[in-house]
Amino acid sequence: MFSLDEKVVMVTGASSGLGHTIAKGLSKQGAIIVAAARRAERLDVLVDEIVAEGGRAIAVEMDVAQRESVNNAIDMAEASCGTIEVLVNNAGVADTKNFLKITESSRDYVMGVNFNGVWNVAQEVADRLVSAGKPGSIINIGSVLGLTAHPGQTAYCASKAAVVHLTKAMSIDLMRHQISVNAIAPGWFKTEMNEHYFNSPDGKAYVERMPARRLGNPEELLGAVILLASDAGSFINGVVLPVDGAISVLGIV
Ligand SMILES: NC(=O)c1ccc[n+]([C@@H]2O[C@H](COP(=O)([O-])OP(=O)(O)OC[C@H]3O[C@@H](n4cnc5c(N)ncnc54)[C@H](OP(=O)(O)O)[C@@H]3O)[C@@H](O)[C@H]2O)c1
Repeated sequence: MFSLDEKVVMVTGASSGLGHTIAKGLSKQGAIIVAAARRAERLDVLVDEIVAEGGRAIAVEMDVAQRESVNNAIDMAEASCGTIEVLVNNAGVADTKNFLKITESSRDYVMGVNFNGVWNVAQEVADRLVSAGKPGSIINIGSVLGLTAHPGQTAYCASKAAVVHLTKAMSIDLMRHQISVNAIAPGWFKTEMNEHYFNSPDGKAYVERMPARRLGNPEELLGAVILLASDAGSFINGVVLPVDGAISVLGIV
């Protein structure tokens, strides 16, 4: 039930952090990985690692905020692997600033990647699945900050809340085409996006206030992604699943 054998899986934002771990983890479940991001040289290293471990993967350079770049990358992926059957819409950015200090361009940048980017890739992948008459699964990586708010994260919180509701709305439109759409709302995992904070005294004190008193290990996201990507999750649609060591329950995000 949990096998992804021969499934073509695109992971956006695979050049670092959670996307990198997800790509490697899904490869171990048998998936053919299409690793997408802007930093192509990092993707090439990931592809080499997957192939060295006996998996199959290709790299496609993609800026999720640019529709033409998305379409070109998906064309390349299809030409080499066939229709993308599972999409892990993971690429994301943050710009941590008080609301009064956020410029229009910073807001547009965060929304452009975190919201428009998720939309762009999902719409293109879904359109091609429908044309090919194939079922599929779209997994949007939201955040606990899409469920509740945190100081200094206005644009990020708004973009992730938009992803949560987009997920629900998309699931209704795409269900008739046998495409499921779900979101994962990660809690805190140390990556390039936030390592500066979690290495600081404030960040360390914050971790001590978490119910688990530790950050997540990126591998701890894999179970949720595999569930939603595989036949095991065939009747799960439109859900937003926190993987956060219960911090959203405690409400200290
Ligand atoms: N780490 C956490 O605690 C946490 C918590 C909740 C949610 N998340 C979410 O998890 C996802 C992954 O974040 P991360 O923590 O792994 O951060 P990360 O290490 O900074 O990774 C972000 C990834 O997004 C890619 N990306 C950024 N802009 C892009 C664009 N315009 N087009 C294509 N790819 C782009 C980056 O690749 P390139 O720069 O090479 O393009 C990179 O691979 C994000 O959506 C983030 O919001 C993370």
